[in-house]
Amino acid sequence: MRMVDIISKKRDGEALTKEEIKFVVDGYTKGDIPDYQMSSLAMAIFFQDMTDEERAHLTMAMVESGDQISLSEINGIKVDKHSTGGVGDTTTLVLAPLVAALDIPVAKMSGRGLGHTGGTIDKLESVKGFNVEISEDEFIRLVNEDHIAVIGQTGNLTPADKKIYALRDVTGTVNSIPLIASSIMSKKIAAGADAIVLDVKTGNGAFMKTVEDAKQLAKAMVQIGNQVGRQTMAIISDMNQPLGNAIGNALELREAIDTLKGEGPDDLTELVLTLGSQMVVLAEKANSLDEAREMLKGVIQNGKALEKFKTFLANQGGDASVVDDPSQLPTAQYQFDLPAQTSGVVSEMVANEIGIASMMLGAGRQTKEDKIDLAVGLVLHKKVGDTVEKGESLLTIYANQEDVEQVKEKLYENITISDKADVPKLIHEVITK
Ligand code: URA
Ligand code: CA
Repeated sequence: MRMVDIISKKRDGEALTKEEIKFVVDGYTKGDIPDYQMSSLAMAIFFQDMTDEERAHLTMAMVESGDQISLSEINGIKVDKHSTGGVGDTTTLVLAPLVAALDIPVAKMSGRGLGHTGGTIDKLESVKGFNVEISEDEFIRLVNEDHIAVIGQTGNLTPADKKIYALRDVTGTVNSIPLIASSIMSKKIAAGADAIVLDVKTGNGAFMKTVEDAKQLAKAMVQIGNQVGRQTMAIISDMNQPLGNAIGNALELREAIDTLKGEGPDDLTELVLTLGSQMVVLAEKANSLDEAREMLKGVIQNGKALEKFKTFLANQGGDASVVDDPSQLPTAQYQFDLPAQTSGVVSEMVANEIGIASMMLGAGRQTKEDKIDLAVGLVLHKKVGDTVEKGESLLTIYANQEDVEQVKEKLYENITISDKADVPKLIHEVITK
């Protein structure tokens, strides 16, 4: 087989075979195929697209390019959730114990945050003593005993994706549905999920700016998952404004505790129940999304979800007493309010820019080596659609620095107050097979 023939074939709009795709992925991972040929093929895919079969083959070739985590020693159907990334997205922290409280195994491999979107591990590490550097044996034991554990990224998963993604990043080929969908799905599958729930974000704070694009991506991923034998569902959710009220690590942990108690923000609660229902159905613990939702509400009301969160924290060395006394979480030295400059209705809160404001306080990393400040961040008091009086606080800034003028400026630039607002729908679509 010759790479140049494969490139030409795709350039002319023909479908590649499983063997051809395997040849490309293996050859590129090993370094036998040079960057210039791989980038040429990526561009051909960008313009010519891929069939459902090609997408599935590409996904599996990337899965097979490195280690695969086996969760076969864990009893039950392992359902994983993936979000395409948002600002102040506290869902994993709530969903994991919530679903585990229904005895569904949650074996989560998670990462640290980069840029203005936070990572679940960082948020969990605001609990004193909490440790994700556990052995795989310990990880499996905990999931079998208590149905929940989180481990940091281990092993050499999907090296092909790492290399191809880096190349796409500098060759104008990131924004291709078949390439994004196979990239995301390969990582989930290599991490051992039997079934997958996807939260595809749309809006200014998301990768996919329009609902139509997000829908296409979601459908592509659901198709791949089901084609390769992993049941997959997706939702399209709004990321025009931050999710929930808290943005920042310890602040979001606190928000997760509130939500597990049934006292969380409405949007976060709704998203968690929607995604959680899909997880419960895929785990075959309920026959319908409605039945699943009632079960989830039940474990919030009877306190089991909160209890599960305590068990989970304690199992991994964390001081679970923070759940009953969140004042023990890291706290920032200073608090500043951001008063509204006019009266009216909040009509826009640009999610990614607000995420960047939080990062300016030290809540996020610019590079992988950066240290982050777990205590700092923002808590919104107003969301899009809320009325506000001039002088009323729009949000509180939690900082470990006395001068927050630049942060305030950035926030004012990205929060609009008008005489009316279009409140964005939170869940745009639910996509099942
Ligand atoms: N996220 C991924 O993991 N892969 C892509 O290709 C794009 C976004
Ligand atoms: Ca939040």
